[in-house]
Order: sequence, then C-alpha cells, then structure tokens
Amino acid sequence: MRYLVTAALPYANGPLHIGHLAGAYLPADIFARYLRLRGEEVLFICGSDEHGVAITLRAWQERTTPQAIIDKYHPLLEESLRRLGISLDYYGRTTDPLHHDLSQRFFLRLLEKGWLEKRKVEQFWDPQASTFLPDRYIVGTCPHCGYEEAYGDQCEKCGALLSPADLIHPRSRLTGTPPEKRLSEQFYLRLDALQPLVEAYVSRCHWKPNVGPVIQNWLRAGLAPRAITRDLDWGIPVPLPDMAGKVLYVWFEAPLGYISITQRWAASRGAPHRWADFWLNPDTRIIHFIGKDNIVFHTLLFPAILIAADEGYTLPAAVPANEFLNLEGQKISTSRRWTIDIHEYLRAAPHRLDELRFVLTALMPQTRDRDFTWEEFASRINNELVATITNLIHRILTLLWRYGGEATVIPEGKLLHTRAESARTIGARLEAYDFSGALEAILHLAQLANKGLTESAPWHLPPEKAVGVVASYADLLAAMGTLLEPFMPLHVAPKLREQLGVDLLNWRRLEDPTPLLSSIKLKAAPQPLVPKLSPDELRSMQTQLLPTAPASASPSVAYISIEEFQKVQLQVVTIRSAERIPKSDKLLKITIEAADGTHTVVSGIAQHYEPEALIGQQAIWVANLAPRTLRGVSSEGMLLFAEGEGGKLIRVAPETPVPPGSPVQ
Ligand code: MF3
Ligand code: ZN
Repeated sequence: MRYLVTAALPYANGPLHIGHLAGAYLPADIFARYLRLRGEEVLFICGSDEHGVAITLRAWQERTTPQAIIDKYHPLLEESLRRLGISLDYYGRTTDPLHHDLSQRFFLRLLEKGWLEKRKVEQFWDPQASTFLPDRYIVGTCPHCGYEEAYGDQCEKCGALLSPADLIHPRSRLTGTPPEKRLSEQFYLRLDALQPLVEAYVSRCHWKPNVGPVIQNWLRAGLAPRAITRDLDWGIPVPLPDMAGKVLYVWFEAPLGYISITQRWAASRGAPHRWADFWLNPDTRIIHFIGKDNIVFHTLLFPAILIAADEGYTLPAAVPANEFLNLEGQKISTSRRWTIDIHEYLRAAPHRLDELRFVLTALMPQTRDRDFTWEEFASRINNELVATITNLIHRILTLLWRYGGEATVIPEGKLLHTRAESARTIGARLEAYDFSGALEAILHLAQLANKGLTESAPWHLPPEKAVGVVASYADLLAAMGTLLEPFMPLHVAPKLREQLGVDLLNWRRLEDPTPLLSSIKLKAAPQPLVPKLSPDELRSMQTQLLPTAPASASPSVAYISIEEFQKVQLQVVTIRSAERIPKSDKLLKITIEAADGTHTVVSGIAQHYEPEALIGQQAIWVANLAPRTLRGVSSEGMLLFAEGEGGKLIRVAPETPVPPGSPVQ
C-alpha cells in the first residue's frame, strides 16, 4: 500500500511548542515510521505556511515585513522538527513558486467549473491604519460564549465559526479602534452547492470519535458560501486582471500546499511526475495529522476544493485530529509566554529528546485535552521509561554480560507468543491512531517480561543453566529494538540495537511467533540507556524553560493609539551633576540639561550607578511627567532605564551623542 502522511503546515510566524508536537508532528512521525517498518511505501511531508494574517499580523506587531518574519521562522521550524527526529521526506514552504502556480491554477479551474461567485460585500476597514481588516484582524466578544477575545473568523474558546459582523463590540487588532464598514468585491466558493458531494465523501470515510461529530455539526447546520479571496498585500495574487490588491485566502491555498510540496519533493528527486502517484491515484491513502482547530478545513473545505476541481484528485483517507495539550493546567499561549518551545527545549535538554517524545506520546491528547506538568514529565520518565522499559533491557543485558556475553538463543514458546501478540496489539493501536495506547502496550510487555525474569530467577541457577534462561529473553530485546523505534528513534531504540548487535526488523516478522535470532554476542559492557531524571536536573530544566509567564496576563496587547503615544514628550538630555540623597539608599538627585535649560530629576538608581559615573552621560527624559516631591526634593520628569537580568537597571541613551534637548519620537 502507498501512503502520503502529512502534518499540518505550521505558520512561519513563531516557534513550535510541545502542544504542536503532541498534537500533530509526533503522531504523524510515529505513524510514518511504523508504516515504513512494515515495508509500506510512505511519503511523509510538511512545510511552512507562509501566508495569511498570522504572518502579516506578526509583522505588524514586530514592526517588520512578512518576508522578514518567514525568513526567520521557516528555518527554525524545519530545524526543530528535524532535531526531534520527525522523519520528514520533505519540508517545503508555501512561498514556493510551484505552490503559487498550483494555487492560482486551482482558483481558475474552480472559476471555470462554476463553483466561484463574485459578491460585493461589506468589509471592515480600519480608519486609523487605512486598511481593510481580514476576519482575523478583528476581535470582540463571542456571541455564543461571551469570550472577549474571539477572532472575527473563529472563537478560540468555544470553537464557533464566526464572521466579524457576529462579534459584539468589534475592534481592530492593529489599532484597537472600532472598525468601519466599506464595500469590497470578493470571490466566494459555493460550499452550499458542493455540500451533497462533500457529504458523499464524508460518509465513505471512517472518522475518529473526536472528529466525526464536529463534521456532522457543520453539515447539519449547512455549509455556507465562503470567501476565498482577501484584500491583503501579502499572499498569492488572485490571477485575474481586475483583481489587483487581492490575494487568495490562506485556507484556500495552504492545504493545496500538500500537493505542491509533493510536487517539489518529486522534482527534487529528479522525477517530477511522481507527485501523481500520490495525488491522482485512488490506491494511495492520504492521511492528514492536525490539531482540532484545523478539522473543518481538512475534512470539509479541502475535500470540497479537490472535488470541485473534478480532475481526479485523491481525497484524504483519514484526518486523525488531536485535541489540545495544556501546560500546568493552562492553555498554551505564545503571546502570554506560557509555553515550552521546542527550540528552547533543544537548547536546554539536548540529551533528553527521546524522553520528551516518550512523555508527549503518553500524554497525547487523542480524544480529549490533556495536561503537561513537569511533575508528570519526571514521573513518566522515572517510573515508566526507566523503571519498566530501559530497566528490563539493562537487567537482561547485564546478566548476559555477566555470563560471558555470548549465548545461543532458544526462546521459550510462551515468550514468543507474548511478543508476537504484543506486536500485533501495538500495530493495531497505531493503525487506530491510538498512540498512547500503543505505548501502554509496550509498557505492559516490558512489565510481563520483568515479572517473568524475576520469577525464573536465573541468578539462583547454575551459570550453564542461567545463561540459557537469560538468552531466551534476547528475542524480546531484539523485538524491542524495532517496537521502540517509532516512539524513540533518536537514542533509545538505536542504542539498544547497537548493544544487541541487531538491525531494524520488519514489523511483520515481530508479529510471528518464530525466533528472531539464533545467537547473541555482546561487544561491550552494557550501559544504561536512559539515566533517571534527578530532582536537580528537573529543576534546572524547569527554570530554563518556564521562566516568564505571569499566566494571568492579558492575552492580547492593550493597544494605544499613536495620538496617545505622542502625548509623551521624550528628549535626550545630558547629565550635568548627580549626588546621593541623604538617608536614602535608592535615590539620586540628578541635574540634567534639556531643551529649555536645566532641571532636577530624582531617580531610584543609587544601587545601580555611582553618581560620578553618570556625569556627562546622556539619557532619555520624559519631559512632561507631572512633577512630584521625593524626600523633600522636587523631581521634574523621569529618566528611562532598561531592566536587565536580575533587575539591574541600565541607562538608555542614543547610540551616538546628540545635542541635549533633541526630541525622541
Ligand atoms: N498553519 C495552520 C495552523 O497552524 C495549519 C495549516 S494546515 C494546511 O493552524 F493544510 F492548511 F496547510
Ligand atoms: Zn465563543
């Protein structure tokens, strides 16, 4: 069987975090690795989603360009995935000209087929930023659940699909002002007319229990025509002459990225036509791993587009969506910095990567939201991975080494059957997208083997007998070298195979109760595969990885307008004198030269600066702050200091000296 396995294309507007990993990338990788071990033909692809408001909004917030944003994050995403062992055959991107071309051709094809319709619509306009506001740029109160930060296209709290007009008290995410309405012309995809075709497709597929009901709710409510173009200056241009300033909606083109990335992969292999083996072939199974917020786009919108094109495209065979992973009881949030980012984990714990994969598989939010806690991270590693799996491996290898490191393997029938049955169970669970269940089955197998070994107590037997008993377990270890591979391919599984001197085996062989080896010879004294996680190591990881997060901070920036900002008068000033204020260990009395002469400022920096060191230096001064008296000294305005590490205050000044009194704006 041929498979195309995909993982949701991450927006190139920020790093990946553990929730992304547990939601889509890890299950996709485990699945792809498992299929390859069965000898199936597998292409596993992903890539950066580089268009859409997620990118332009980030650029606006960082005062930079969309191009700069994607140039920064595309390599970071690719590197994070690669280093965590996500075994992609290709990592592409949606700014690829191949992708632009394909998306525009799809648009024209749907137009030609009559599935698109031009409509004049009222759209929201930000009078302050002079731009149309895409749905995502508008926030307001959700009419369904009252959540105050709902987006104009979807409420992230209750999942309701919205349009901006549904929001109560809408406001622009750019400037915070209430948007105005203006007329604009857009293309709509006739999802209403496509619904019967989509329904026929949906009814042919088998859906996970957390996915099926979501689809049914949508279909029951009736699909509505959906705008697939936007007024935006970043994206794939609408390929029509009178449509300047309009681009394709990101959810129209991004899923087509699965096709264009397959094309790019094929081209990179020197066989451009091979993309068709996957996309124009009903015998290929296409499987999309995603998070729950992507369900509607992958199960309804994307199939609708493929069906509408009517060119024989292969439709998704399964969309195993996961729910969300929370962090210490709270929703993961990049903006609130309540997150464990992958690139930071890689820096803080580069030798604990399989451990992260293990824990995230155990905690995978397959049918409901799950919670990551550091406490559970440690206990899963110490009490399951180490105490059960790697301990079993180490016990057997150490005994074998003690008895000479070399033996003929004559496995016991019962052991062979247990191993074969486990391999079948693990495989069946993986095929049902039950990854944590598959891991549990491995733990169960290891527990049985640990118990069996203890009961047969070879250490009480004479050595010539003992060696045979221990060697009979080598068959199980050889199987483990493959069974563990999809889950922990970076260190644990390969190191085990190396110590045993066995290769990866075809998974089908493991399902058969016939011996996997006839003899065993260890080359070196066995080393423990995974060291226990000590409280010290845990604490150090925790401090490195969860530093900031005032978790209750407001989820969106409280914007001020440019007019509000301009009320603050900032000047560069030169410090003429500075002295301690008697009986205060914090305050300095500072005389500055500003545009209109000298002023006195009291600053709380005595613990950070010697007065003499400041004389002659420049600083930034808030000129129109209302004066106040501190320790009997009248203070006019305020000098600005940056807060460095450990709360150390550091003077803020122009890069090169400027005349005192120069404005800062
Ligand atoms: N970038 C989207 C997200 O992070 C996922 C896009 S998946 C694709 O939610 F299929 F549209 F590419
Ligand atoms: Zn809501």
